[in-house]
Amino acid sequence: MAPQDSSVFMPHSPQARAIARLFTLDLVIAGVVFATVATLVVYAAIRFRARAGDPEPRQDEGDHRLEWLWTLVPAGILAVLLTATVRTMRAVDPPAGGHAPDAVVIAHQWWWEYRYPRSGVRTANELHLPADETALLSVRSADVIHDFWVPDLGAKVDAVPGYTNHLWLTPAAGTYLGTCAEYCGAEHAHMGIRVIVEQPAAFAAWERSQRAIPAPPAGGPAAEGAKLFLERTCTNCHTVAGTAADGTVGPDLTHLADRQTLAAGVLDNTVDDLTSWIANPQAFKPGCHMPDLHLPAAEAHAIAVYLERP
Ligand code: CUA
Repeated sequence: MAPQDSSVFMPHSPQARAIARLFTLDLVIAGVVFATVATLVVYAAIRFRARAGDPEPRQDEGDHRLEWLWTLVPAGILAVLLTATVRTMRAVDPPAGGHAPDAVVIAHQWWWEYRYPRSGVRTANELHLPADETALLSVRSADVIHDFWVPDLGAKVDAVPGYTNHLWLTPAAGTYLGTCAEYCGAEHAHMGIRVIVEQPAAFAAWERSQRAIPAPPAGGPAAEGAKLFLERTCTNCHTVAGTAADGTVGPDLTHLADRQTLAAGVLDNTVDDLTSWIANPQAFKPGCHMPDLHLPAAEAHAIAVYLERP
């Protein structure tokens, strides 16, 4: 499913709708204030400008009625905005209480890890959620401060090291794009989020497929790739279920083939792109924590074939 064009004005969850309503109210009030002030300034500049031969203007020591007016009107406007904001915050962001999260979001430099505590599934960069069900996400960071933001679905939530934030979402079916919204280093702009919201049965099927432990490849380039994957340093950072690879620094690659993109949206998920990425990640995402291992092209290709096997 092609992703939606992201917009805070096209909400796809009740939480995003509440935020959009508040944003629209703020814009309308700010627009009326701007139009009123701009009109009065232009009127005063034209009507009362100095002309040749004018006497000294009348000296005005103040007007209590006007002073009350320009104190009370802004105070009233701010009171309306405060009330609307507090109501929206209560609707969008009720306390998590003792609820266990449906998914745990862990921000890394520069990718997203998603864990589903009930099923034990781990994946990266593409978050799957069931449609029209309220999910509680807990949001953390493995290193610096990031910010999880999917404009169609909800509020920005900071991912802070050593602290857990949470986010309630009741998303409609669709594919949504988001981004890291807090500057977090060189590849901040390449920390894309993709949220795939499916009907509950399709979500359950996806979750089952992610729990499956793939059989080792029987032969051919995929088997060669599997051998190389375990021999080179890949296993220090990556996990592939059913093998000795259990690194947790980088994304879990067990079901990499099921994802739509690579490296948090930088590349398409194809054997060719994955080969290029393995051969030299620094060419695509300079500064990322996956080093250039100087693998021969044939080895990079074999590992890509292994990881992309159906
Ligand atoms: Cu992560 Cu900006």
